[in-house]
Amino acid sequence: MNLNSNFQLLKESYLFAEVGARVRRYSEENPDKKVIRMDIGDVTLPIPAAIGDALDGAVKDMLSSSTFHGYGPEQGYAFLREKIVEADYAARGVQLGADEVFVSDGAKCDVGNLTDIFGKDVIVGVPNPVYPVYVDSNIMCGRTVENGGIRYIECDRENEYKPVVPGEKLDVIYLCSPNNPTGTVLDKEELKEWVDYAKEHKSLIIFDSAYEAFVQDPTLPKSIYEIEGAKEVAIEVRSFSKTAGFTGLRCGYTVVPKELKGTMADGSEVELRKLWLRRQTTKFNGASYLSQRGAEAVYSPKGSAEVKANIDYYIRNSSILHDGVTALGLKAIGGKNSPYVWIQAPNGLTSWEMFDLLLQRCQLSCTPGSGFGSNGEGCIRLTGFNSFENTKLAVERLADLRL
Ligand code: MLT
Repeated sequence: MNLNSNFQLLKESYLFAEVGARVRRYSEENPDKKVIRMDIGDVTLPIPAAIGDALDGAVKDMLSSSTFHGYGPEQGYAFLREKIVEADYAARGVQLGADEVFVSDGAKCDVGNLTDIFGKDVIVGVPNPVYPVYVDSNIMCGRTVENGGIRYIECDRENEYKPVVPGEKLDVIYLCSPNNPTGTVLDKEELKEWVDYAKEHKSLIIFDSAYEAFVQDPTLPKSIYEIEGAKEVAIEVRSFSKTAGFTGLRCGYTVVPKELKGTMADGSEVELRKLWLRRQTTKFNGASYLSQRGAEAVYSPKGSAEVKANIDYYIRNSSILHDGVTALGLKAIGGKNSPYVWIQAPNGLTSWEMFDLLLQRCQLSCTPGSGFGSNGEGCIRLTGFNSFENTKLAVERLADLRL
């Protein structure tokens, strides 16, 4: 049987799998040394009590024949979609219908699965550095940098790697703000430039706002739909993972507005929402009733206060990391409106050399910047997701290293 040989074009292993394997190997060889994990962006605080109560309630529902839930709606339960529309969008002046929201088991899956609705010949544009899922999921479809299916969008290091609107036409553009991995945030003017570009070129923007909850500056946008006209050009992907501690529970959502249309090979104009609905009803049976009840509790008064306290905790950590490494003379960005801090390695070290140095000398694990693309070479990413105590310890160990 023939296999999808595009997989041969991928790197041997996924970035975070490779980092995890190296950290495990180090820990096995050095059982007395405790590594502070600041590589993958995985949350560490337990889920808020309000969400736990909602999960308990959902389990009870499942135990009684009168409240039991079997297959749910593929698009997600209305009780959750209505809360999303109200609290995440209407509250910020964005009007959406609940039928434009598709609840899923996480942003990563949606971002990868969206390639199902692209035409075969589209050219996708990705910033550099970039979250590897955007690139790898397109490589799996046969698009590569070498065959022109993937183009890197110029990112200016001096301007915190913010992607620069290109002169050429790209069909699909991936934007992530607050950015993974650099932690920078596009402001309204910068986002408007992209919306205008997409309108002019009839392009689609996939806007990944998985980290919107970390935005502290009230002038910065959390959703691309805060920009006028964006509903005609953008799909937005969001997640409860980092916002509310759902990395293990799994729940996220994707917004596909009705205004968003594309063209079929026969020239007919079709709503992307209809294609995505068709795709989801065919290949997906919905996120679990339990996780959707848990996600609903994120919007309750108690739940939202508890979620905010967790976000504040992580942001304090990332801010400590940013300020701590900056005080040591290292160049760092991010960490203020994002859990990620992006640091330039000193003395010309490569990303993996810096990774090895931090692991062996500080027992601190990071993500090598080169894993996010060639522009990330010479940088590393740390996260604010560990504990406050470990974050302070990490800065102390870095100081002792005298880089
Ligand atoms: C990251 O560390 O970049 C993220 O945790 C990866 C993800 O959300 O899939």
